[in-house]
Amino acid sequence: MKADKDLRWFDVECVPENYIFSKEGRPRNLDIPVCDSIPVINLAKANGHTQPIEAVLAASQEYGLFQVINHGVPEKKLNDAMSVVKEFFDLPSKDRTGLVPHMKNWIYTNSTDYAKDGVHLWRENLKHPCHPLEKSIPLWPQKPTRYQEVIAAYVVKIQKLSLRILEMICKGLGLDPGYFNDKSEVQLLSTNFYPPCPDPSLTLGILAHQDPSLITLLYQGNSTGLQVLKDGEWINVGAIPNAFVVNIGNQLEIISNGKFKSIKHRVVNSTHETRRSIATFVNPSPDCVIEPAKALVNESEPIRYKASQYKEYVHRNKAFGDYTIALQNAVQSES
Ligand code: OGA
Ligand code: NI
Repeated sequence: MKADKDLRWFDVECVPENYIFSKEGRPRNLDIPVCDSIPVINLAKANGHTQPIEAVLAASQEYGLFQVINHGVPEKKLNDAMSVVKEFFDLPSKDRTGLVPHMKNWIYTNSTDYAKDGVHLWRENLKHPCHPLEKSIPLWPQKPTRYQEVIAAYVVKIQKLSLRILEMICKGLGLDPGYFNDKSEVQLLSTNFYPPCPDPSLTLGILAHQDPSLITLLYQGNSTGLQVLKDGEWINVGAIPNAFVVNIGNQLEIISNGKFKSIKHRVVNSTHETRRSIATFVNPSPDCVIEPAKALVNESEPIRYKASQYKEYVHRNKAFGDYTIALQNAVQSES
């Protein structure tokens, strides 16, 4: 008897019509092998002489995306964060509906809110701001009860790691020390749940997009499904235990005057695998002006992007969807 089972939108034998993309919109190449050329950079300090800076620079230019290992975020923090995210998405519907939708400081959406031309994505998503951290924490979900504590500890580690990666990029590009300080102040957490899908050739977990961040750090556990568009072909990003996927966002593409590329990526679904991911967007503060760094502009490298305040950019591009500005401003306006 299924009478009192908590049936959810993805407990179906066939893909419902409103999740089926038009022929042109479908993912097509699902059976491609994992790409083994996407750089995996070892950040271990002991690795002294093989400077990761060059590797980071080369990967940012060639792919706009790389993975990092031995990054200093303890495995336990990663596992705890992933399990509390799992618990959140596994909450009984009655609890989740209590949390839905559009509360001021965090946003939970099931797949029906993410539609393109009326077609839904095969995922659920939870987003919230993390800056300023101490003020943000009490405004995050209160269920599961460990959520705030575990995610706060995770965010602290991510802040450190992102600063470290940005320092390498800063040095590598020859920018003034501290160049990225105000350009990486605001973190936004976005967690995703992609349940198994009866026919992944018809659906998408996330549409092809570029991140509107400075950089994004993504933890994907051991799951696959992330693809990037390289030289016109979709290729699979492999699952590497305990690694972070780092991708160059639009703001860093602008600052680097196009030297780095913000790569297009998407998520495809799977018949058997549940994917969960935790993306941390590292963003400039809203008033920060983003423009090509002066040090990277000269006669042979003319300026390629217009300067823009980050908040204007977000507004113009509807970055992070319809809720972005509310999210960005939520915590600030509490003060
Ligand atoms: C994103 C994103 C990928 C994933 O949130 O911008 O690209 O694997 N997520 O969930
Ligand atoms: Ni993305």
